[in-house]
Amino acid sequence: MRAGAPAIHGGLDDAELRVHGLSRGDVLDFSSNVNPLGTSRLVRKAAATADLSAYPDRRSLVLSEALASRLDVGVDEVLVGNGSTELIHLLARVCLGSGRRCLILAPTFGEYEAAAILAGAEVHVVEATAAQGFAWSADVVTRAVETLRPALTFLCNPNNPTGVYVDRDFVKRLSAATGGDGLLALDSSYVPFAEAPWDERALLACGNVVLLRSMTKDHALAGARLGYLVAGAPTVAALRRLQPSWSVSAVAQAAGLAALDDDAHLKVARTVVAQAKTYLRAQLNALGYPVVDSAANFMVVRVGDAAKLRLELLRRGIAVRDCTSFGLPAYIRVAVRRLDECKQLIMALRDVRAHG
Ligand SMILES: Cc1ncc(COP(=O)(O)O)c(C=O)c1O
Repeated sequence: MRAGAPAIHGGLDDAELRVHGLSRGDVLDFSSNVNPLGTSRLVRKAAATADLSAYPDRRSLVLSEALASRLDVGVDEVLVGNGSTELIHLLARVCLGSGRRCLILAPTFGEYEAAAILAGAEVHVVEATAAQGFAWSADVVTRAVETLRPALTFLCNPNNPTGVYVDRDFVKRLSAATGGDGLLALDSSYVPFAEAPWDERALLACGNVVLLRSMTKDHALAGARLGYLVAGAPTVAALRRLQPSWSVSAVAQAAGLAALDDDAHLKVARTVVAQAKTYLRAQLNALGYPVVDSAANFMVVRVGDAAKLRLELLRRGIAVRDCTSFGLPAYIRVAVRRLDECKQLIMALRDVRAHG
């Protein structure tokens, strides 16, 4: 069991930039794992037509219908949120409370623990180690679930920050071990960038699996805030009762709807990521920074003193994620951006090497 602090995230921090005499436009951000092509033209156009003067639909009905039809589920099985972060907190509030247990497969996205602690839960972790290539043992995880009987388990797949991507059998085993005692939240925020994605929808038949998706990564809507989850209708109804009214803005709803019709943008981004990822991995390894294999659009890299290197790079206008808050102070996480931008990162790293 552990106690914790608010989650730490990547992304730019205006106060920190100010200290270094930088503004957002001066920095190439490799610290958040967003589509390197940015928001598509179609999505920006749709967002610009949103009515800023009227309240948005409280259920995000039209977007929920579009998602339901795409995913082939009922509209009452979809809940749209102000980023998947809102949905993580709603899940924690519905499932957890004083004395309830939350199991987290770590190292992973910090918001699960923050939400569980805010909800008053006992937090337990199964930690994968570098020696295991950050892969969890299905036996160990299953035993932990059977022993602890958690009311809520979080599994991020592909995992942030390690890029580990478990297969369907792993999740099925975990779901079976959970049984009717709890819910298994499968956070698939990075599946759109997975090299060999598998379809998770069949897992809904297990009855205790909640699929969490962010639209802020694949469609570059981090500033607009948009995510959704898919679960059984009773779970969705319980979560909806706790959701603040109008939490999803009209801009986010309009952008999300347009994004669903813009597969082409994502398709190009995947190709760009695949090409740049090959370059980045090879260059980082060649520079003596070993890269951990990742199925996603980011990678963790062993650099020695992550906090120091992050600062050196920031001074050169490059932001990377120091993995200390994940319990990995020797690693940074690097998002895959466009090839020309990855070349700038490599040049900056060479400069750090040359001048310290
Ligand atoms: C695994 C994972 N889930 C969820 C989120 C939150 O995404 P959103 O912007 O949709 O709140 C992040 C953001 O970094 C993430 O890495």
